[in-house]
Amino acid sequence: MNIFFDEVHKIFKLDTPHTSYIMTIADGKYLGHAYYGAKIEDTDVAYLTRVFEPPFVPSTNGRDKLSFLDCFPMEYPTHGIGDFREDAFSIRTEDGHEACELFYKDHEIMRGKPSIQGLPATFGLSADTLTLRIDLEDPVLSLKVSLFYSVFADNDCIARSVQIGNLSNNDIYLTKVMSASMDTEGENLSLLTLNGSWARERWMQMNPLGLGFQGVSSDRGESSHQHHPFFALCSEGTDQKHGEVTAMHFVYSGNFTAKAYMGQFNNVRMMMGINGEDFCWKLSEGEIFRSPEVIMTYSGTGLGTMTRNLHALYRRHLIRSPFLHRPRPILINNWEATYFDFNTEKILAIAKQAAPLGIEMLVLDDGWFGNRFDDNRSLGDWFVNEEKLSGGLKNLVDEINKLGMKFGIWFEPEMISPESKLYEEHPDWAIQIPGRTAGLCRCQYVLDLTREEVKEYVFKCLTDICDNANIEYIKWDMNRQLADLGSRYLKKDQMGELSHRYVLAVYEIQERLLQRYPNLLLENCSGGGARFDPGMLYYSPQIWCSDDTDAIERLKIQEGTALIYPLSTMGAHVSDCPNHAVGRNTPFETRGYVALAGTFGYELDVTRIPEEDRAMIPAQTKMYHKYHELVAEGDYYRLASYASNHLYDAYMVVSEDKKEALLTYVQVLMRPNFHSRKLRLDGLAEDKMYKIYKYDISTGEEVPYMTEKTGPSAAATPRESALSGKALMNAGLLIESPWGDFKGILLVIREA
Ligand code: DGJ
Repeated sequence: MNIFFDEVHKIFKLDTPHTSYIMTIADGKYLGHAYYGAKIEDTDVAYLTRVFEPPFVPSTNGRDKLSFLDCFPMEYPTHGIGDFREDAFSIRTEDGHEACELFYKDHEIMRGKPSIQGLPATFGLSADTLTLRIDLEDPVLSLKVSLFYSVFADNDCIARSVQIGNLSNNDIYLTKVMSASMDTEGENLSLLTLNGSWARERWMQMNPLGLGFQGVSSDRGESSHQHHPFFALCSEGTDQKHGEVTAMHFVYSGNFTAKAYMGQFNNVRMMMGINGEDFCWKLSEGEIFRSPEVIMTYSGTGLGTMTRNLHALYRRHLIRSPFLHRPRPILINNWEATYFDFNTEKILAIAKQAAPLGIEMLVLDDGWFGNRFDDNRSLGDWFVNEEKLSGGLKNLVDEINKLGMKFGIWFEPEMISPESKLYEEHPDWAIQIPGRTAGLCRCQYVLDLTREEVKEYVFKCLTDICDNANIEYIKWDMNRQLADLGSRYLKKDQMGELSHRYVLAVYEIQERLLQRYPNLLLENCSGGGARFDPGMLYYSPQIWCSDDTDAIERLKIQEGTALIYPLSTMGAHVSDCPNHAVGRNTPFETRGYVALAGTFGYELDVTRIPEEDRAMIPAQTKMYHKYHELVAEGDYYRLASYASNHLYDAYMVVSEDKKEALLTYVQVLMRPNFHSRKLRLDGLAEDKMYKIYKYDISTGEEVPYMTEKTGPSAAATPRESALSGKALMNAGLLIESPWGDFKGILLVIREA
């Protein structure tokens, strides 16, 4: 890790362990981007910006300034001055002008990493992190724009953010503030994005990049089911192990834009930040606006390296929870078990069956409060429904605790139902535009969290419940998008701040909650996985991945999620069959292996599932405890993708010392007359010798996987000799086809 400024050539060079990021000051004032890629030793690479041949900068060729701006790889391009490609920053003055031109002014290289007030962000110590701040200025506007870049000693990611300071005496309206922009170029590039819908989150999509715009965004007030605040520019032929990948990932939970623009010279500009739609921030004299952070990473060895860079960064420099490295309690959630139809007896019956099977926490989902017998009412009325929970919540929690189980509870704190006591008293607390009938979604409105008294109310509701009983876990849900953006609190020239202020308020409440209950396990959720983003990970070490708990659908969802998030963050549960989202029947065993990829739990009525399924739970809970550390801390290698081959799925997690690995294989479709499939393993040490075992779910023990026969009628005996990592990764391993569809196998690979 290093950050260096070459005074002579005016070059900034940031080095991570394996990458270099280089910027240059051209013509004494324009900050340009020169290089991002594999680590290089040279600093003098300003020639890459093409300003020297012939000297092609405004000071020597002022008559063609616009031509210069049209192709110079501007590090932070602005609107209205003649760079006609997509801009990263735009403003409006009180007079209605929109131009802004930024010149290099100053810089500072510092140890450590400053936090971003009010926002989630990666962190680092002065020993392992360096930060560069480059100050740019528009002298006409008296506007200061500081670009921040942090590098980490142990990681190939770069964290970027922007801070805007108004040094003038006037109000300036920020209409677009991207957190990061980068100019590059290339041919035959593709753009990798994650897209979906409710119950189909984060499916991977690779599209060729053509001239013009391409990208994804959300203006739903959350990161969304539909698109994801991540994208990666990939060279031709990129796969898990090959290709150049430059990725951006947003540490934010609201509206976003991830845009790539390919221009006339095959120059590509990629940028990410708060979506400029629905955004207009009034910056008054002396005020500062801080953008959320973008994480960038470069890999010259395919998607696998990108994945491991991001996983490692989030585990070491983003997730703060004390639960990060701890086994999470294996929970049973009553949502798919009972929906709204439960009472104390039913919940206790589930807990009583679950406890002896090794399940460690009961989570009471939606429906325990107000008049909540269905999803048409009562959000905001966070007092216990004693008709359902006779004896009260504390009584139920105490009874659960007596069984040796922890207790967790569901909230949807950001919402208000039109049919609620809260709405009767405070109809103006909902986000609505006066005079316009606001649209409902799941029969609810969103609370205007920009108002102090609303934030206080929400916080008090949460703490009243948590103080009243031994609550050790909260599932924080959010089941609708933001629309009809109107606040009775914000002034008319601040209405464009509503969406961002809303997200800041969610962060503030979660921060306060965690400060008050440092040992609370928080799981974020949004109608499944609509707010699965790095911003949320700063507050909760796990996020509910999707409302689709079908083991086969989950393969795609979890592949896309694990592409950029550590497995320890993915909420994954075993649920009942036929599955409630798709009606599919899968073996209970397979459901367990698929849920092992995440935080592991159950989402079913354990009193009503088939006896043979129930009998498997002790071996599954044992499996989680045996392997969770490897799953949560190991390096992730994707071997095969059901999403692309439509037949089978496989991934590995490998311990840091490469002595132990886990391979999860799911055969989705059986092929007739197809006895075994050769799978090349990954991530092992070439020179170590390994033996392979299979987790036997009927006994909960590991048994040798590779066997040998000395003759056709001889009994199979375990293969004595071990195999080298080199053989397993090049020649491969034969996976015997299990009989039937939807069959899972869990293999353990141990150094012999
Ligand atoms: C959406 C969540 O994703 C589900 O798990 C469940 O909590 C429901 N909301 C409850 O309304």
